[in-house]
Amino acid sequence: MQQVQNFHDTDHVKTAIRDAWTAAWDQGEVDALDALAASDYQRISTQSGEASGLSAVKDEILEIRSALPDLTTTVERILIEGDQAAIYWNATGTFTQPLNGVPATGRSVTTHGSNLVTFQDGLILREEVTWDARALLSDLGLNSLKSAFETHDVETVTDNLSGQPVREALKAFNRQFITGVTVITTVDEDGTPRGLAANSYNSISLDPPLVLVCVMKSSSTYPALFRSQYMGINIMSSDQRDTLGVFASKTPDKFSQVTWHHGQFGSPLIDDSAACVEVEIKERFQAMTHTVFVGRVRSSEATDVDPIIYKAGQFFDGRDLTPLD
Ligand SMILES: Cc1cc2nc3c(=O)[nH]c(=O)nc-3n(C[C@H](O)[C@H](O)[C@H](O)COP(=O)(O)O)c2cc1C
Repeated sequence: MQQVQNFHDTDHVKTAIRDAWTAAWDQGEVDALDALAASDYQRISTQSGEASGLSAVKDEILEIRSALPDLTTTVERILIEGDQAAIYWNATGTFTQPLNGVPATGRSVTTHGSNLVTFQDGLILREEVTWDARALLSDLGLNSLKSAFETHDVETVTDNLSGQPVREALKAFNRQFITGVTVITTVDEDGTPRGLAANSYNSISLDPPLVLVCVMKSSSTYPALFRSQYMGINIMSSDQRDTLGVFASKTPDKFSQVTWHHGQFGSPLIDDSAACVEVEIKERFQAMTHTVFVGRVRSSEATDVDPIIYKAGQFFDGRDLTPLD
């Protein structure tokens, strides 16, 4: 094993770090890191505080490289002071293969990071990193996918949901909740418009203008929605009962049965809807069978046409409501 014999010989140290870095990150030769790391080496993520050993770091490099096969990294600068070195680097790649169960989006990312390493006896004992696979997902706009890494949290949610009330009690509760109905729309990679009926829409805040919608992962619209940067949310009017039927079904070409147009940000918007917004998707929270998409409203079109009403599995005419004082 070639050790960094003397960390006061800064040129030698810098060359050793650059060589091992390039071999591991750019060629996938992760065993090159053995030349640098002490046997009790630990990497600490400054974001999560998590510690990993060398084999976990190697696995993560290989996973990231397989998810972004065109990944190229550059060590910009290495500063050495005493028994510590700061490594400043950048990396560029395209997310073309799944990473930790997160579907590929085809998006490119350029990111920067700095690693602070501490030497002991000429080997790296500790490395503090500002960037890891989780930060990569954040850079790719998928930061909400933290739970893909935090299976423990997901299991905790399952445990909490397994108690009372039972399914029928929850259904009875939901039947008492009156909503409107939206159609969530997006475009697939090949430009095909896709959409599904959803009453899980809710406004989160006006400032910033955030909204949410929950979509089943088994929905045929889901993969396209997951990859999208934008989605359309169309509030169905009382005259759109048929349109709603189309989007609540699994009919293959739903948009051939309605008239629609592209919104400013490319989302399909259904003509004659009571109101439409286009939303930039900011978060994709994993909730077991569903994903909660949180988005920032980017454009909106509202009419004074009355919306359709949904209660206990039935649709009602929004024009027939009796106001209370
Ligand atoms: C009133 C109503 C509300 C619905 N709300 C949702 C919802 O919030 N999220 C969801 O994933 N599916 C919801 N659905 C079910 C989907 O619209 C339905 O499963 C649809 O067939 C999915 O189509 P797709 O698989 O082609 O995407 C709702 C259906 C109806 C009728």
